[in-house]
Amino acid sequence: MKEESNANRLEPGHCGIVKLRKVGIIGLGHVGAHVLCDLVNQGIADEIVLIDIDREKAECEAMDINASMAYMPSRIKVYAGTYGDIGDADVLVNASGKISLSAASNDRTNEMRYTVAAAREIAPQVKASGFNGIFLNISNPCDVITSYMARELGLPKGHVFGTGTGLDTARLLFRLSHDSGVDARSITAYMFGEHGNAQFAPLSLVSFRGKPLAEMAKTNSKLNYSQDDISKAVIQDAWTVVSAKHCTEYGIAATAARMIKIVLGDERSIMPASAMLEGEYGESGVFAGVPCLLGAGGVEEVCELPLTKAEWEMFHQCCESIRNNIALAEEM
Ligand code: LAC
Repeated sequence: MKEESNANRLEPGHCGIVKLRKVGIIGLGHVGAHVLCDLVNQGIADEIVLIDIDREKAECEAMDINASMAYMPSRIKVYAGTYGDIGDADVLVNASGKISLSAASNDRTNEMRYTVAAAREIAPQVKASGFNGIFLNISNPCDVITSYMARELGLPKGHVFGTGTGLDTARLLFRLSHDSGVDARSITAYMFGEHGNAQFAPLSLVSFRGKPLAEMAKTNSKLNYSQDDISKAVIQDAWTVVSAKHCTEYGIAATAARMIKIVLGDERSIMPASAMLEGEYGESGVFAGVPCLLGAGGVEEVCELPLTKAEWEMFHQCCESIRNNIALAEEM
């Protein structure tokens, strides 16, 4: 079939043509492929470029998803490309990873020797492409790789952020919803800190559309959690899945797709993500999972919520753990 010539494509803004939403996905393993699937199923982009060190893999992912296009809500142009194709992308996703390295010890920091090397390959190519959109990092350890990419890409403040505890929060919300019988979308709750084994759930912030968890627990003993127990259960959820599937994919892809939708639609919605702290929660110069106001500019604002003294201390411990891992990454 004759390739659509550029001459026939009206420039965005011409005759009312809206700007097409362009997304690049780097790394088409389980996670990247499911981000692709979610974007297409939800009609969240208009053009998606797939980049992988295994070009044939990228081409086959494009072929496979294009075989679904006839039954999708909208037509999306999906193709295998290179970094030269993503300079004008609105959002670029880094989904490079090797979960098997983490799975061996249930610790995402063991993936660093692969993901730091990958990041060192990716960053200069993204810079050379002239990309100046929003860079969403999934690659683990998420807070560490996000920090590296933010420094290397030099994009405007907020333009580089990570899925961070956005996924862990979805796991927490599922547990709260399951135990309370209330839809997760009617619950406010967060996992804070590292997308890793040091994260925690500040129960003082859990609310059922304004009704505090403590009130709900008075008539439902299943909600009588200790902060430590529920935090550890959420952390373990990832490893339980990895032990059987040798990956996770649905939750992380949905988290990334939700963030991409918020950015492309400039929704200005609040959700947890790995963001640069500049004094918020008493921390500076570190990426960590906190509630963020997300919009066209990526992280528009870090939302500071009231934590208890103990929760502040736990958050500080998290940030110290992330700083240590960033230092380890520098030596790799
Ligand atoms: C997880 C991976 C994406 O938590 O870190 O499922």
